Amino acid sequence: MIDKDRFYMAGVMGWPVMHSRSPLMHNYWFRQQGLKGTYVPLAIKPGAVEAALRALHPLGFSGCNLTIPHKLDAMQVVDELDDVARKIGAISCAVVREDGALFGTNNDWRGFLGNLKNGAPDWCGNAGPAVVLGAGGGSRAICHALLHEGCPEIRLVNRTRDRAERIAADFGGPINVVPWEGRHDALEGAATVVNTTSLGMVGQPPLDLKLDKLARETVAADIIYTPLKTDFLKAAEARGNTVVGGLGMLLYQGPPAWKLWFGLEPTVTDDLRQAMEASILGKT
Ligand code: ATR
Repeated sequence: MIDKDRFYMAGVMGWPVMHSRSPLMHNYWFRQQGLKGTYVPLAIKPGAVEAALRALHPLGFSGCNLTIPHKLDAMQVVDELDDVARKIGAISCAVVREDGALFGTNNDWRGFLGNLKNGAPDWCGNAGPAVVLGAGGGSRAICHALLHEGCPEIRLVNRTRDRAERIAADFGGPINVVPWEGRHDALEGAATVVNTTSLGMVGQPPLDLKLDKLARETVAADIIYTPLKTDFLKAAEARGNTVVGGLGMLLYQGPPAWKLWFGLEPTVTDDLRQAMEASILGKT
């Protein structure tokens, strides 16, 4: 229940955090929802996340998002965790309960699915195998999302095989670990391919992935949003594939957080997407 006399607050804890585009997005929603409040970047140094999280309640915050490097440490601090966060092994969102207790969850997988369903409306999780490149935190959220949607097989490809093996063991689902050299051939017969590595991001090496075996029907997604469209997605698009960029994953993990913090469900509008894109392109 919204209290018209209250000033609502949430934020994102990270280090560094000033590059984060999430304040732009959440403050757009405060206006869209006619709610008095703000969403602020919280520059929290490594090691200080416990004190920062415990300060949310006395300061009157409804909760916060967590980004690099706090997603793992914060999981150890919260009083209550849901199964999804436990499985993914990280939290992206903390919620302050009325009594000050902290609840932690992970909305990254919801963001990925919301984005995929918006960008590729015909996409269906059980249409066929998925290839997931990378085995970091992003990959764990994507694997959870794909299995949640009934994906019959995940071909998990990572440079460091151990990390992929760990995900396969933790998830216990139909995940087959594929060596990094096998990534090109793994595309054969895949319904979905997702890059969760940092390859292709501004300032990082390119993703070397041969698309000869990529079928036209395969949906290609990247969780990177700087650049807005990676070379991998451009190449897939040029072959006629439906492609989904990473910005939407950030946009679509917002509404589930709002539901938990404020009981409201803001919408991802074209206006908002354009404002975020302009900000990333350095126009604002
Ligand atoms: P996040 O938690 O954001 O997903 P991360 O844990 O740093 O980030 O994971 C980055 C991913 O990109 C990993 O899968 C990493 O592979 P390793 O597990 O072998 O480190 C992958 N990655 C980064 N640089 C790479 C490179 N040059 N070649 C292949 N994979 C790379």
